[in-house]
Amino acid sequence: MNEQHWLKRWAAVIWQVIGAVNIRAKILGIVLGLVVLMGVAATIEVRLLLEQTLTNQAYEHSVAVARDMAARATDFTLMRDYYGLFRLLRDTQANNPGLRYAFVVDSEGTIVAHTFGTGFPVGLRDANTVTANEHHRSVLLTTDEGDIWDIAVPIFDGRAGIARVGLSLATREQTVAAVTGQLLITTIMAAAVGITAAALLTWILTRPILQLVELTKAVASGDFSRRAQRWANDEIGKLTDAFNAMSEALAQAERERAEREQMRAQYVTQIITAQEEERKRIARELHDSTSQALTSLLIGLRSLADRHHSPELHRQVDELRGIVGQVLHDLHALARQLRPSVLDDLGLAAAIQRYVADCRARSGLTIDLAMPDLTDERLDPALETALYRIVQEALTNVIRHAHATTASVVIERQNGHLRAIIEDNGCGFDPASLSGDGHLGLNGIRERAALLNGQLIIESAPGSGTTLYVEFPLPAANEEHHERHSVGR
Ligand SMILES: Nc1ncnc2c1ncn2[C@@H]1O[C@H](COP(=O)(O)OP(=O)(O)OP(=O)(O)O)[C@@H](O)[C@H]1O
Ligand SMILES: [Mg+2]
Repeated sequence: MNEQHWLKRWAAVIWQVIGAVNIRAKILGIVLGLVVLMGVAATIEVRLLLEQTLTNQAYEHSVAVARDMAARATDFTLMRDYYGLFRLLRDTQANNPGLRYAFVVDSEGTIVAHTFGTGFPVGLRDANTVTANEHHRSVLLTTDEGDIWDIAVPIFDGRAGIARVGLSLATREQTVAAVTGQLLITTIMAAAVGITAAALLTWILTRPILQLVELTKAVASGDFSRRAQRWANDEIGKLTDAFNAMSEALAQAERERAEREQMRAQYVTQIITAQEEERKRIARELHDSTSQALTSLLIGLRSLADRHHSPELHRQVDELRGIVGQVLHDLHALARQLRPSVLDDLGLAAAIQRYVADCRARSGLTIDLAMPDLTDERLDPALETALYRIVQEALTNVIRHAHATTASVVIERQNGHLRAIIEDNGCGFDPASLSGDGHLGLNGIRERAALLNGQLIIESAPGSGTTLYVEFPLPAANEEHHERHSVGR
């Protein structure tokens, strides 16, 4: 149970590490790992085999040399020709390159000839020996100079002493080292070739995937126009097809959405324009014909009073004239509200000033007005109308709903934007609870703003007043003109 737990934890840790690197690193890692593993395993195995073979070979060689030397040493030993024996040893050593030493011990155990020059190593004599009836005896000596095969062979069946040779295994080490080096170089070369091949493979494999990743990011940021290139007919090719189909569907949906949005904007523009036109027409009608008629009525009443001298009639005519005058006044106010001619004739600032003054008079509310950046210069008529209607709707709401004591209207320019801020200290409301239908005012403001690429932000909460921010981008030329204007002042 505990073991399983550990195993799971380790698997998780390993997967975390492997999973964190990209596919390229994974494939390269696998290839490199395999090549290195195989290279190292092969090197170790070859080394072991080679070492063993060379050791055996050296062994057999040294036995042969020792036996040959023992056979030839028989006469010299029996005749006690130690000089001849010495020459035999020297020749044997000269003819066998790996032979480190050779010496002969007589039957009393005295060393009668050796190849060491002056000093014979202490303890070497007793390191190996052989009995008369043995073929030979071997010992592997470990010395400062490396391993040495020491072979002892009885001379003349042991009656004439023992011949000893020592074959150094130094060449064995050199050969093994050389072969190991060669194998390692081969491994490195194989690894290089493997990595190049793997890099090529991963490039082929990951290129379409990376392309898809990039295109997915483009789609996420709203660009549906790009299509992935199909590289091959495999799974990735199918994924590419699916991706392209998805992009196409998204692009189609986006086109339809844009079309619908455009149509909606068109309708809203038409409605707003028609509304404005209608208001204009009614305002003109009220002014041109209804006002004219009432004015004529006033004049008629005056001439009627002039022609008759009855005090009763005078009183009634005065009363009627008062009523007509009031109706005329109301009519003017109504016409102004419907479509103030000031807006067309004198511009936004004058129209708003007039409207705010009307509101103050009508409601008794204290309304601060500041339009520091609005000069005599005319803005786009659509923008002027929109701003006027927005201020109108916002102040109407303040009067109708807010129960406020003060309100303020600020219109200013900032960073190429025209911003209107309408604030009151009234009861406030929860903007989130606004539903679409029934309330045309705030929604109308939002629509008007959106049509001119502007936006509405409502800041309000029950009990803490209301602030509307409406912001429009200004055309660049307009802004530049204004900048020059204000520098000149
Ligand atoms: N300044 C304000 N202070 C308090 N409440 C407000 C304010 N402005 C709007 N509201 C609230 O938001 C609601 C929606 O306002 P909106 O102007 O959209 O519609 P409305 O005034 O009710 O109707 P209309 O379509 O005639 O304008 C209002 O009914 C009112 O409850
Ligand atoms: Mg309203």
